Amino acid sequence: MPLIDSVYIVTGGTSGIGKEIARELVINFATVIITGRDKTKLKSVAKEINAIYYHADVTDDVQINSLFNYTLRKFGRLDGIINNAGIGDWCPVEEVTRKRLQNVFDVNVYGAAMMTARAAVHFKKQKKVILSILLLQLQQKVMQTELFMQRQNLL
Ligand SMILES: NC(=O)c1ccc[n+]([C@@H]2O[C@H](COP(=O)([O-])OP(=O)(O)OC[C@H]3O[C@@H](n4cnc5c(N)ncnc54)[C@H](OP(=O)(O)O)[C@@H]3O)[C@@H](O)[C@H]2O)c1
Repeated sequence: MPLIDSVYIVTGGTSGIGKEIARELVINFATVIITGRDKTKLKSVAKEINAIYYHADVTDDVQINSLFNYTLRKFGRLDGIINNAGIGDWCPVEEVTRKRLQNVFDVNVYGAAMMTARAAVHFKKQKKVILSILLLQLQQKVMQTELFMQRQNLL
């Protein structure tokens, strides 16, 4: 489906799944804004896949607001967001700490939730797309943790 004139934000669009989603959107004629924390990576990937970049950390509400303000000011529209930014912190269960969990939740859960909340303000007016990659990941992680705990006879 050609996406001419449509505008998408892909969080964490500088590598892996996010980069490939962004690339596909661009190939299908969408304008794509990729985000991430590493400015050098942002610049080079944006050049490589012909996207636009915006430096924004999803754990920072001020940066999320700036990202939406920039997008709407520059392009006058937004058709979808791909909540893809995420981190993994795998360790044996006995090494889990509250701080480690908080870091993961801050990016993978609260970051996506705040992006969605901000997009919803705009998307209320028109039907648009919000795709959250990390909710799939969260379900997968919970299942893996349960499996691990079952194997260790902890559940
Ligand atoms: N790969 C898998 O097998 C798999 C399986 C299930 C779910 N997932 C989920 O799918 C998503 C993509 O996975 P991936 O393997 O493609 O990840 P990846 O290659 O590690 O890429 C993660 C992206 O997120 C960005 N990022 C990380 N923290 C961020 C933050 N606070 N704010 C903004 N951007 C941030 C990274 O850029 P910077 O570091 O520059 O910020 C990078 O662009 C993630 O949410 C991941 O958890 C992956």
